[in-house]
Amino acid sequence: MKIVIPGGTGQVGTILRRALSAAGHEVTVLSRRPARPGEVPWDGRTLGRWAEVIDGSDAVVNLAGRSVSCRYTAAHLQAMMDSRVYSTRAVGEAIAAAAAPPRVWLQMSTATIYAHRFDAPNDERTGVFGGAEPAVPGYWAYSVDIAKAWEREQEEACTPYTRKVALRSAMVMSPDRGGVFDVLLWLARLGLGGPVAGGAQYVSWIHDRDFARAVEFLIDRDDVAGPVNLAAPGPLPQRMFMHALRTAWGSPAGLPATKWMAELGAFLLRSDTELLLKSRRVVPGRLLEAGFAFRHPHWPEAADDLAGRVRSRSRLAAGQTT
Ligand SMILES: NC(=O)c1ccc[n+]([C@@H]2O[C@H](COP(=O)([O-])OP(=O)(O)OC[C@H]3O[C@@H](n4cnc5c(N)ncnc54)[C@H](OP(=O)(O)O)[C@@H]3O)[C@@H](O)[C@H]2O)c1
Repeated sequence: MKIVIPGGTGQVGTILRRALSAAGHEVTVLSRRPARPGEVPWDGRTLGRWAEVIDGSDAVVNLAGRSVSCRYTAAHLQAMMDSRVYSTRAVGEAIAAAAAPPRVWLQMSTATIYAHRFDAPNDERTGVFGGAEPAVPGYWAYSVDIAKAWEREQEEACTPYTRKVALRSAMVMSPDRGGVFDVLLWLARLGLGGPVAGGAQYVSWIHDRDFARAVEFLIDRDDVAGPVNLAAPGPLPQRMFMHALRTAWGSPAGLPATKWMAELGAFLLRSDTELLLKSRRVVPGRLLEAGFAFRHPHWPEAADDLAGRVRSRSRLAAGQTT
């Protein structure tokens, strides 16, 4: 298949590009700064020559959006919103204008659309949207607003010949440098990977290979449209999540952190505590119903696999320098 990935130069794009190319597909990435073969320039906002690669393609997977790993200043929040809404609109316009539109448009969204909660998991049917939870910082509602506006942009696009799926993805765990797993492992190796603010908040996650397999599954399944949660069936409280990660690496001690220590850490890492403190309890209702089988459904095993791949990567790098 010919598959186009707008915004495919980042963490998730790297995972997807690797998997889809290995499966024999022809992958084209749209980037504001194309640097490698297979990358085509676009501005993420307006229709241009780039739309030619969408015309005649089989599938589009739009990942574009300003990174959420930053301080949530007003300017950054606006850039997070605009980059998602405008890029989704532009992709919709390109599909609408195509003489041979793609069969399917998978649009990245986020599991953050669901409420901060502990009592029950959120699936697509019974899940509760965030934004009105008591006792959470008011600005957390903005991430939910971004997710809703992002999905609305895809829903409203007039693309009658193209099936639309919104990927409500949890954190994608891969061994790649700079990814979420890499950062968490680094904290664990420093002895800092303990419970944060009590550690009762749920962490939803998905193993990189299951993420790529789920994308291929959704490309193939003509009967699935609308929002789909991409999360392993076993979300778990942060304290257990970090315990399993430390065990996988062999560094069992992890200092607990209070809320203010998390604030300080997030500040130093130029990130935001919402990423650490929001309870994301999200499960893959529709994927399981559709018959998708996770290869890495449980975190302790998935963490073992990822830690093993980080070790092999380090051994390989050491071998290359000796
Ligand atoms: N990583 C996760 O675990 C996760 C989980 C759930 C949802 N998501 C969402 O999935 C998407 C991809 O995630 P990621 O981790 O791969 O993100 P990433 O590493 O930050 O990559 C996103 C890509 O979007 C493009 N981009 C950045 N700012 C843009 C702008 N203003 N206008 C247009 N394009 C822009 C960039 O490509 P160029 O610079 O090449 O143009 C960048 O490589 C994001 O929207 C993210 O919110 C990620």
